[in-house]
Amino acid sequence: MKEEGAARGQAWDVNLYDRSFGFIAEFGAGLVEMLAPRPGERIIDLGCGIGQLSAQIAAMGCEVIGIDADSEMIDLARRKYPDIRFICALGENFSLDAPADAVFSNAALHWMKQPEPVIANVARALRPGGRFVAEMGAHRNVVTITEALYQALAEQSVAREAVEFPWYFPRSGVYVSLLEAAGFDVTHLNYFARPTPLDNCPNGLSDWIRMFGRNFLAAAPSGGEAQMIARAEELCRRRLCPDGRWMTDYTRLRFRAELFDG
Ligand code: BEZ
Repeated sequence: MKEEGAARGQAWDVNLYDRSFGFIAEFGAGLVEMLAPRPGERIIDLGCGIGQLSAQIAAMGCEVIGIDADSEMIDLARRKYPDIRFICALGENFSLDAPADAVFSNAALHWMKQPEPVIANVARALRPGGRFVAEMGAHRNVVTITEALYQALAEQSVAREAVEFPWYFPRSGVYVSLLEAAGFDVTHLNYFARPTPLDNCPNGLSDWIRMFGRNFLAAAPSGGEAQMIARAEELCRRRLCPDGRWMTDYTRLRFRAELFDG
């Protein structure tokens, strides 16, 4: 997570990300299995964040290029994994000197609010027959959290329209159409709910909101942020923390697509 970070005005707390949001990469392990990297392949990790999955794929004998829009994430990735090439660029305009065998992306595409140019750029980066394997937040992702944030803001007299919704959470059919229009054949697609525990967040949902909910916090009246977070947490508690363990209401779109080799 990661794409559209500093380059688009979202400043990330990379140390908090590293400390408390390791689950993002942990849940990506199954996606690496779907990627099925082969030694010697050239693989782009799009929205690589601090590079944990880039490193996992590189350890399988691949040449990995990690790409992320956030320069602080890229700096940390370079420090953690000095043998891997990391580039700071946007999904819609990164370019490489040679075509890739695969583009991989975990929990990043939903930060790229204009999917067409991103998908077109992924297609440009691949060799014919290359694969695009990704997982992203999808329709109804974090809806309990966002509705609670809107309500907490409304209670401070802030209208929904004051928040620039930061994400793109498509229905599966919409994303498939975009992939097909760009020349991909979709060979696997799964839309599913994946409640995700926040076990490494000492302050539970508040940490998640502080990490990812910047646009909501920015809309709060000056000095009203803490109240907004506390109220949103209270509104979510019955559904997302019924037994004392915070779980986010994630939904996922996971797909594998191949670039038509005609
Ligand atoms: C997600 O992975 O679904 C996600 C992460 C941060 C903010 C919004 C969604």
